[in-house]
This record gives sequence, C-alpha cells and structure tokens, in this order.
Amino acid sequence: MMPHGFAGILGTGRAVPERVLTNADLEKMVDTSDEWIVTRTGIKERRIASPEEAASDLGYQAALKALEASKVKASELDLIIVATITGDMPFPATACIIQGRLGATKAAAFDLAAGCSGWVYSLEVAQSMVKAGYQRVLVIGVDVLSKITDYTDRSTCVLFGDGAGAAVLGPVKEGYGVLASDLGADGLGADYLKLPVGGSRCPSQTVAIDDPGRYLKMSGNEVFKFAVRAMGDSTQRVLEKANLTGEDISWFIPHQANIRIIKSAASRFNIPEDRIYINVDRYGNTSAASIPIALDEVVETGKVQDGDLILVVGFGAGLTWGSAILRWGGVE
Ligand SMILES: CC(C)(COP(=O)(O)OP(=O)(O)OC[C@H]1O[C@@H](n2cnc3c(N)ncnc32)[C@H](O)[C@@H]1OP(=O)(O)O)[C@@H](O)C(=O)NCCC(=O)NCCS
Repeated sequence: MMPHGFAGILGTGRAVPERVLTNADLEKMVDTSDEWIVTRTGIKERRIASPEEAASDLGYQAALKALEASKVKASELDLIIVATITGDMPFPATACIIQGRLGATKAAAFDLAAGCSGWVYSLEVAQSMVKAGYQRVLVIGVDVLSKITDYTDRSTCVLFGDGAGAAVLGPVKEGYGVLASDLGADGLGADYLKLPVGGSRCPSQTVAIDDPGRYLKMSGNEVFKFAVRAMGDSTQRVLEKANLTGEDISWFIPHQANIRIIKSAASRFNIPEDRIYINVDRYGNTSAASIPIALDEVVETGKVQDGDLILVVGFGAGLTWGSAILRWGGVE
C-alpha cells in the first residue's frame, strides 16, 4: 500500500424513507403543537422508515448513489465504515451486511458508534486510512431512530427522523481533502442520551415488553447546553488548526438537531446565513445521517466549486463531538 498525503471526498449520496411525518400528524399523537415544535426546534416534518426498513436498507441505497457519483465500483472498495447507533442488529456489523449486498468483496467492514457525531468520526478514520494507503473507503452515516423512539413521549418524539448519507473517500491532489479535524468526548455525560435496554448492562430478555428503557432517553436541557458549547468550541479549534476564520468557509454544514443550536454556533464565527446549510425543517434529527445527507444536498445544488472550503461539525450521544474542514475537489 502506498501512503498518500491528502485524502478527500470523491462523491456523495443519500437515501431517506418515503413516509413523511408532519407536525400536524404529531399533534394527533401527543400533546404538542406545530407552533411549539417550529419555534423550539425548527422542525416541520421528518421521514420515518417502514416496519420492514432497517439501517442497512437505507445505508445500501445511499452507498449506491455515492459509488455512482464517485465513479467507483463496489469491487474497488478497500474499507466500509458505517456510523450508526441503530444498526440492523447488535451484531454482525451493519457495515458487513452492506458489504455483502454491494458485493464489495475486497473491503474490510466495521461499524462505528459515536451517536450523532458518528459520521464526522468515521470521516476522520477514513481519511487516516486513505493516508495510510487504502485507495477507496466508503463512509456511511445511517440511523433509524424511529425504531427506538417512544411516540407517547412528546419531549423526544418530535425531534427525530430516519435517513442515510454516504461518501467515498480516496487520494486527492495536494492541498485538497480533509485539512483539519477535531474529535472529542465527555463520557461523564453518557447518561444524558442513551438507550438503557438491549446491551449487556440490561439485556432485553430481562425486562418487560413495555419497559420504558426500551426507548431512547434524553435530558433535553443538558444536551442543549452541551451542544451549543461543543459545536462552538469544536468549530473554533478546527478553524485554528486549519489557520482559517469563519469568513473563509464556503459551506458550514452542522449537525441538524435544532435550528437554535445551529444559529448560536454559527453566530460565533460571522458565517453569513447563505453559507449555513439547513434542512432540519424537512428531516428532523437523523443522527449520524444528518451531516452526510446535508452535504449531499449541498453538492446536488451544483453550487459547490472546486476549492471551496466546507466545515462540518456535529455532537451527540457519548457525549461526543467532532468537526472537520475539507477543501472540496482535487480529484485525481
Ligand atoms: C428538546 C428541546 C427542543 C426542548 O426545548 P426547551 O426549550 O429546552 O424546552 P424545555 O425542555 O425547557 O421544556 C419547556 C416546556 O415544554 C414542554 N414540552 C416538551 N416537549 C414538548 C412538545 N413536543 N410540545 C409541547 N410542549 C413540550 C416541556 O414539558 C416543558 O413544559 P413545563 O415547562 O410545563 O415543564 C431542547 O432542549 C433541545 O433541543 N435539546 C437538545 C436535543 C438534541 O439536540 N438532542 C439530540 C442530540 S444529538
């Protein structure tokens, strides 16, 4: 394997379920209102997977599109990383299921769990692997949080949606690709966002079928405070590492959890509104899928030029955070 100096994105893709769950639909399910949801979160609707649809189904569809966009064949992939906390099963890895379906016989495959920061974490792993000599690495962010959401709990069920986003990484020209990154975690906040049942601490066989621990639990206020701080601080660090300021950034693509969190982070860095990508209104919080879905939508607009600087930043369960700055293009 030949090491490379620079690793970047060759192509992107996304997939979301067909079913749309609107705020009006939620008004019929819990004591909430469109007005409350829009003013507190910015969310208007989200996509919800069908009962048959699992993480690998959405991840596979997003992967096919990313492979097509990057003109890479599945058989050329050396590695597949799937960032998810709602894989098809605890094991095998969803990455292996997708590897089999793609026919990516040469590729190693593993899952990475860092909550909503998962895709930014996997981007960092992928770019390091490309620099170590891997030629083609597929990174998928996919989550199907609707499967672990309690639709009688208004404090969480209005927030989440399902989806997948993907990118293929490979060697790029000097000065392009991932220029700087910042990853971190604060495990003391592990209790603030979790799925209590179904692991080795509390196996699902040991609890009743209607045990509330079978659903995602979140301390909204604690996560909110953490998110504002982590997004802002991580953005600051990654800008410093790349020796750039907010004004240099062409596209700011934050994790889409809450419009208020996005605006408060962006306001610290004088990033003009037209450079901040927002789709939380259409998808809600899709966890590890949120940043790659947003990136793929930005690329699809055709406005991303060779040489543009893209800043991605996320936060999530763990608690975790991550950011990266990429120079777009430079594909050899
Ligand atoms: C969840 C969140 C939107 C709540 O917004 P908030 O402004 O902090 O609201 P609060 O939690 O203070 O709740 C205010 C009131 O609204 C109520 N409320 C909560 N959900 C509601 C809903 N869907 N509809 C109507 N009222 C609701 C609360 O019960 C509370 O009522 P009370 O004052 O009578 O107790 C916000 O905390 C948040 O976005 N947190 C971060 C979540 C996140 O990003 N998670 C994913 C991490 S990757």
